Amino acid sequence: MAKVTSMRTRSLAALVVGAALAFSSLASPAGFAALTPAHAPLAAYALAASTSESASGLIARVVLPAGVGCPSLDVMMPAKQGSKKVRKAMQERKAGATTLNAFSTLLVCEAPIPKGARAASIAGRSIPAFIPRNIDSIALFGDSGCRLKGTEVQACNDSAQWPLARIAQSIVRDKPDVTIFLGDFFYREESCPTANSAICGGSPAPLPEAPFTDSAWGWVADVLTPMGPLLSATPLVVVRGNHEQCSRGGNGFYLMFDPAFGTSRSCAPAAGVAPTVYSPTRAVDLSIKGGRGLRLVNVDSANGSDNTIDDTIAASLRPLYERAHNLAKASDEAWLLTHRPLSGVLSNQYLPVPQGESTTWTSVTQAYASYGLLDPFSLSLSSHVHIAQAVQIPGQPGELILGNGGTELDPTTAYPIPPYGPLTNASGQPLAPERGTLPTAQSLQTWVTFGYAMAAPAATGWTIALNDVRGEAFATCRLKGRQITCA
Ligand SMILES: [Fe+2]
Ligand SMILES: [Fe+2]
Repeated sequence: MAKVTSMRTRSLAALVVGAALAFSSLASPAGFAALTPAHAPLAAYALAASTSESASGLIARVVLPAGVGCPSLDVMMPAKQGSKKVRKAMQERKAGATTLNAFSTLLVCEAPIPKGARAASIAGRSIPAFIPRNIDSIALFGDSGCRLKGTEVQACNDSAQWPLARIAQSIVRDKPDVTIFLGDFFYREESCPTANSAICGGSPAPLPEAPFTDSAWGWVADVLTPMGPLLSATPLVVVRGNHEQCSRGGNGFYLMFDPAFGTSRSCAPAAGVAPTVYSPTRAVDLSIKGGRGLRLVNVDSANGSDNTIDDTIAASLRPLYERAHNLAKASDEAWLLTHRPLSGVLSNQYLPVPQGESTTWTSVTQAYASYGLLDPFSLSLSSHVHIAQAVQIPGQPGELILGNGGTELDPTTAYPIPPYGPLTNASGQPLAPERGTLPTAQSLQTWVTFGYAMAAPAATGWTIALNDVRGEAFATCRLKGRQITCA
């Protein structure tokens, strides 16, 4: 296995664009070599976390090639005269022992960022030291990786066909105060087919014998390299997608991006089988310009079922939504962040759906598990469907789906309002009579183009620009109360 990993490391050196990584130096015993330019961070970032995890609301993380010990987190703290530099030790965050060396070429380290820090850096790389107050811009995107699965072969080596790095650059240029990533980082689930080597050659392949599809270099290629400048630019609020299920990219997600201490091994296989894991519902509080508060409540919908109600999954999700309801109720304004949409609409090219299933609504298990618990939310943000879409169901929060962050887009046509609402099958019959149905949408708009969104507070509510890859708006949405409309 070690041999497999070291071959992978050498063959993938070219992936780390512009990084002078001397991969031969990775042979040094872990923890003994000094930090050299060859060990510059692959990524350094600050994850927004519950204040029970970190009093400042931020956890610092750094990802380096293995072969050195953890660097320090350097912070500028207030002092009587100006500020003083303080060095904080970072702790290694380890992948599970059963992940078959898939992550052994990386070193991941972390530390809470102390409350009151004015600046922060790791190995010379600046990262956010605090969550800004008076926030007036929030970047939003999701579904970003390069899709390699079955017949779906995206051109990972072509920035027009897989534009994640360009989207990340545009977001950095917009200088948001906070960035929300809505899930589905990881898409390199198979080898680039030999016949397609001109468009995806060099892409890291999964370990053939592993009960998961990700690896250190899969994450470097799909996330750390293309998103690098963005990762360091703003605090990150991170949502787990179904591509981060334990059988897919979950090990890398929990190693690098889960915003909590002690969770890095959550997806490690047990007896050769990937577990099923639900992260607890968590909240991050933001101070918005104008003295407004905004609570972001993150429900883990990595596990789910889109076209049918899965009772077992719904039973696990229901307490997560009950917790979300209670967290939202206690805030001025709350947005629900969850990867699978509560009421997204798929292209009718996917019709006809099998008898007994819903129309093109997705994800009905989410709609079922959250039923009756969404009153305190003004907006639901998700991705998962590879389009941008705004949906308004009467009595529900406005819903914005942003699954257009780089992975291959869904069909360009057609997204009519279904005749019946979510939790109803194609014949209008309730999918779960004991719980009820939802009315159909009063408005539904869909854009099949790559990009991201930028949300800014308005005198009442929010203005949300839907931007293309270059950062130019192709639509503008208004959220007033719980109503979203776009033009
Ligand atoms: Fe996706
Ligand atoms: Fe997804």
